Amino acid sequence: MRLVLLGAPGSGKGTQATRLKEHLQVPHVSTGDLLRAEVKAGSPLGLQAKEVMARGELVSDDILLGMLEDRFSRDDMARGFILDGYPRNLAQAAALDALLERIGQPMDIAVQLEVDNELLIDRLAGRAQAEGRADDNPESVRKRLQVYDDQTAPVIGYYRDAGKLAVVDGVGTLDEVFGRILAAFERQ
Ligand code: AP5
Repeated sequence: MRLVLLGAPGSGKGTQATRLKEHLQVPHVSTGDLLRAEVKAGSPLGLQAKEVMARGELVSDDILLGMLEDRFSRDDMARGFILDGYPRNLAQAAALDALLERIGQPMDIAVQLEVDNELLIDRLAGRAQAEGRADDNPESVRKRLQVYDDQTAPVIGYYRDAGKLAVVDGVGTLDEVFGRILAAFERQ
């Protein structure tokens, strides 16, 4: 299974990806997690990304594509993958398709988790208190939601046009949302 998880900040991409990884036995590749690991390690890439991420803006497409190509060069990706946090704009969507075509692994399905903004803000405020993620403060959350609407939402149309989009209601218990994603696989 080769799958992209789409959805606004706080829609549950990371949470559901963790479950899907167990279920499908394929790697979960989160570009946010990869970037946070670079920031934590204090690498040159991490130093470049740190402030951009804290502000809730997008890190440059070049950095992301380099990171992704590096991750896709590893053997475990041959089994399939769950991609979470990429693509985030139309240029990234096209770059991903080119990369997947090059390695002969076309995307099977893009799952969009739908959650309204009020609930997203509540969830991220809860995580800010519990985990203290640098970009979960109200100002950065506002920016992340705006960036999502302006740059990432068009990616939904990109996968719809390709006949690969499944829209899933992301509101409910973790089990309910997970069940809906599995049902979407069946339909696809
Ligand atoms: P990234 O890490 O991808 O953050 P995000 O998209 O903002 O997503 P989140 O991790 O906030 O939310 P999620 O949808 O994974 O929800 P989660 O499961 O955690 O990116 C961070 C930054 O990195 C970006 O802003 C950007 O700067 C940079 N970046 C990353 N990728 C990039 C790219 N491709 N290009 C450029 N820059 C990039 O859940 C959220 C909370 O809700 C949790 O507390 C969870 O417990 C809770 N929750 C989840 N599901 C439910 C549910 N059903 N009911 C109740 N609570 C729930």
